[in-house]
Amino acid sequence: MVIAKSIIPAGGLGTRFLPATKTMPKEMLPILDKPAIQYIAEEGAKSGIKTFIVITGKNKKAIEDHFDSPDTRLKDKGKEGCFESLNKVIESTNFVYIRQKEALGLGHAVWSASHLIYKEHVAIMLPDEIITGPIPAIAQLMQIAQQEKCNVVGVQEVPLDQVSKYGIIGIKKQFSPNLFQVKELVEKPSIANAPSNLALIGRYVLSPNIFTMLGESKLGVGGEIQLTDAMQNLLYSGEKVFAYKIQGNRYDIGNPLGLLKANLDFALRHEQYSGPVMEYLKNLEKDMIILEGQASRQTLVKPKSATLL
Ligand code: G1P
Repeated sequence: MVIAKSIIPAGGLGTRFLPATKTMPKEMLPILDKPAIQYIAEEGAKSGIKTFIVITGKNKKAIEDHFDSPDTRLKDKGKEGCFESLNKVIESTNFVYIRQKEALGLGHAVWSASHLIYKEHVAIMLPDEIITGPIPAIAQLMQIAQQEKCNVVGVQEVPLDQVSKYGIIGIKKQFSPNLFQVKELVEKPSIANAPSNLALIGRYVLSPNIFTMLGESKLGVGGEIQLTDAMQNLLYSGEKVFAYKIQGNRYDIGNPLGLLKANLDFALRHEQYSGPVMEYLKNLEKDMIILEGQASRQTLVKPKSATLL
């Protein structure tokens, strides 16, 4: 089974990052010196993906420009080193861009690529989730899909109080510590309705029948067409869905705090930045202790000054 195409849904408005995303795609926000979507493309290219189908919308042109060959003038300025990993992606893959006609959710975004997928399994990679580790996240799923000839979704455990932010799977059978057969999938359940705490983390390898299911989907949670509901319908139709606990560090960069944490984490693991960042954080901690000390002293004197009001 050849899995050569990956859909990257990148049509979202990025409202959590406004005003930064007023005219700039959230997928272009950087972790250190690389835009988020480049990490996704590198993961796909390393896994053997040959075509990326990027679902875009208004104000997303910068993504297309980014995956063009770098300007030769930058080469003349001795900057070609910066483009090494980007060039590898550009040389080994092709990009196709589709504008989502209506903002009807993740399922609808994926469905927009249906006319480009024939009788083949397809990878789906959500750019809000960056996953690092020795084996690219999507490659881990592709290997299982090829072995088992079935659908595979990537999962990781999340704290119970977070289940309502994710699609959650229910388990039918456990084959090994990390591999499961899925019984059901529920999008953003309450704690009471969550079949487990294993959450979908934005990596999927699905059979082409997903497009039939998406085409027939009704609006789900949040008034949107949900990919999770369409996968549930794949199960109803008799297809097997496996879930694999992806091995790697996951960063949810769909909100400013998550992006900040990812930047810090990447910096602390970076050859050049780890030393200075560590130093900075140590000083920051000292400042925090001083500030906390001042704050508690202020609290102690508060009753006196409060009488002035
Ligand atoms: C989407 C999916 C959800 C998944 C999540 C992972 O939700 O619908 O099943 O768990 O991505 O990030 P969103 O974050 O777009 O609301």
